[in-house]
Amino acid sequence: MGGISIARAAQMLRPPADGLRYLRHDRAGELSTTPGELTVDGTLIAAFEFSPDVPVQIDASGCAVIPGLIDCHTHLPFVGWRAQEYAQKVAGVAYEQIARDGGGIKSSARSLAAASDDEVLAQAGAAAAEMLAHGTTSFECKSGYGLSVDAEARSLRLAAQLAERVVQTTTSTALLAHAVPDGYDPDSWMATIAAAMPDLLAAGRPTALDIYVESVAFSNDHLRQMGALARRHGLDLRAHVEQFNSQGSVPVALETGARSVDHLACLPPDHVAPLAASETAAVLLPGAAFLSDEHLEPGRQLADAGAICALATDFNPGTSPVNSLPLTIGLAVRRYRWSVLEALLACTLNAAWVLDQPQVGSLEVGLRADLLLLDGPVEQIPYRLGHNPVALVIVGGEVVHVHPDHAWRVAA
Ligand code: NIG
Ligand code: FE
Repeated sequence: MGGISIARAAQMLRPPADGLRYLRHDRAGELSTTPGELTVDGTLIAAFEFSPDVPVQIDASGCAVIPGLIDCHTHLPFVGWRAQEYAQKVAGVAYEQIARDGGGIKSSARSLAAASDDEVLAQAGAAAAEMLAHGTTSFECKSGYGLSVDAEARSLRLAAQLAERVVQTTTSTALLAHAVPDGYDPDSWMATIAAAMPDLLAAGRPTALDIYVESVAFSNDHLRQMGALARRHGLDLRAHVEQFNSQGSVPVALETGARSVDHLACLPPDHVAPLAASETAAVLLPGAAFLSDEHLEPGRQLADAGAICALATDFNPGTSPVNSLPLTIGLAVRRYRWSVLEALLACTLNAAWVLDQPQVGSLEVGLRADLLLLDGPVEQIPYRLGHNPVALVIVGGEVVHVHPDHAWRVAA
């Protein structure tokens, strides 16, 4: 057998059964973390036993082996940062006020317009490398800082170019209704993108559409229209909802068959049960919630009710300049009172469901060998908040990152 073999892992994170597309959060305790060994053949996981006859052998003693982390909600590619807005927010200025004053999304749109493709790709590529070192082996890209048809098309093209340059698997989401562009009202902008769909789809082959529903952005009616547009073009619908104010968007998103509803800090308690009963994932973004001082997302209630919860960074220059999933796990565990298994489920198997990437997110024979060695048991991820636990990263059956302290583990 060719490939890689991993010996003596102290923990190996395995699902309760093979072939699950997701696991509802009331069943997260069924994931197991018993010791194990694993062999990779080519790009795939081949067996849960050690094989001495492979070219690369890895000593995982004391380590946890887990699936590569999946960041199912990021706003890459973007360019520049907005640290001055963070200082304003800390001093008490509301996000909506910053947006009304021409900051926020529009400020990042100006930065994107002023930057060359190479500048955008250099910043995004560096971020992807940093994410890889923190265990992210798949991530979502979103457009949304274009704010014109041409600039959204450019953003989708840049996401496709980023995909070519990075080690990770990426998906592309067209966040076509993010802020209302100057010269439009929400209705005329929705009509414009509906008419431009063929060009936008050709630009970057997104697999999902997305919309920001908020008092300063789009309404539930626009959410319904975006759902219809997604259906017409065979795409998934994602939606930023209930972030700073409640608009009652979740029942609308469920009616329109959304793949996920993201943020949810202001989710009304009555909407927990219908969301939990659906196949729409609840994507929680605790980095954004913490840095924006949002209400506490009902992560505990959603998990107890059996929702398909996912966890992501929301990596963007405004609400979440954070791209570390281990840090995000630490925030989720503390703030939602989640177990580490609940947090890991949310950024592995269930995040793969959000991105519709069934070949990753779980350690199973026949799935793609995207996996991590951590420098200690999984319980240390949330506990050592801010520490990067990633010792080694394997993507598609290749060792793509080794922390220098752990180089001794690899014999080739
Ligand atoms: O997911 N809330 C809307 N969109 C982003 C923020 C974008 C920005 O501020 O640049 C989010 O939080
Ligand atoms: Fe977002």
